[in-house]
Amino acid sequence: MEPAVTMRGITKSFGPIHALRGVDLDLQAGEVLALLGDNGAGKSTLVKILSGLHVPDSGTMTLDGKPVDWRRYDVARARDMGVETVYQERSLGEKQPLWRNVFVGRHLRNRLGLIDVRREKVETMKLLADVIGFRGVGLHPEARVASLSGGERQGLAIARAMYFDAAIIVLDEPTTALGVTEAEKVLSFVERLRTEGHSCLFVSHEMHHVHRIADRFALMERGRIATILKKSEISLKDLAEKLLLGEEDRP
Ligand SMILES: Nc1ncnc2c1ncn2[C@@H]1O[C@H](COP(=O)(O)OP(=O)(O)OP(=O)(O)O)[C@@H](O)[C@H]1O
Ligand SMILES: [Mg+2]
Repeated sequence: MEPAVTMRGITKSFGPIHALRGVDLDLQAGEVLALLGDNGAGKSTLVKILSGLHVPDSGTMTLDGKPVDWRRYDVARARDMGVETVYQERSLGEKQPLWRNVFVGRHLRNRLGLIDVRREKVETMKLLADVIGFRGVGLHPEARVASLSGGERQGLAIARAMYFDAAIIVLDEPTTALGVTEAEKVLSFVERLRTEGHSCLFVSHEMHHVHRIADRFALMERGRIATILKKSEISLKDLAEKLLLGEEDRP
């Protein structure tokens, strides 16, 4: 099977800062790949290139075997090609009702071409109940995003990606700043994603989360991929130590 994503020789600078210095990375179809590394290593920059927010200075990328034309690649095109990104920063309008959040930018329309609000609400209820299994009292399509817990918000964003059947779902630090129970919800959503055959790139600093859900770990250092390990090749303890050790100290 074609990898879901291949990246070759990706570079990106911001003025004098070389954020990415030649990244080669494959995301296999149906795998969860964790992207790890220190602050400033280039993880979010790489994510933003995949999701169409930044264009690289050089390098190539394929999605499901199809070459990406950077001149025509942006967030909308990335979505069309099956890439959905859930940013740690708020990607959900807090004051908006849930149903609006699910369908923003991609409305369901009736035969007259008008936004089919009724159907959007019905589909939102299905999404909440079936896809993410929300059982909270008073959860309804008109509820505001602001009334959701952190884990539920991440869940809604992930569910939206699942609803639109994105092949590739990118999560940039989805469990950071969440409590144990909330983080647990997000991890179980990611497990669902994999069960349903989606590929997932998961950026995190939280080793115990990453070790549980990822199939492989890609360690970034100063704008490059330094190491890639399969879960079977490294224990949680060794993974945590490897990341704690400065690159200078590493054998
Ligand atoms: N829009 C930007 N303008 C200028 N510099 C940037 C921009 N985005 C990122 N950088 C710089 O590029 C480098 C890589 O940043 P990036 O956000 O990709 O790191 P990261 O691995 O995601 O870090 P963290 O773990 O802290 O989220 C950093 O030196 C950062 O300051
Ligand atoms: Mg980051």
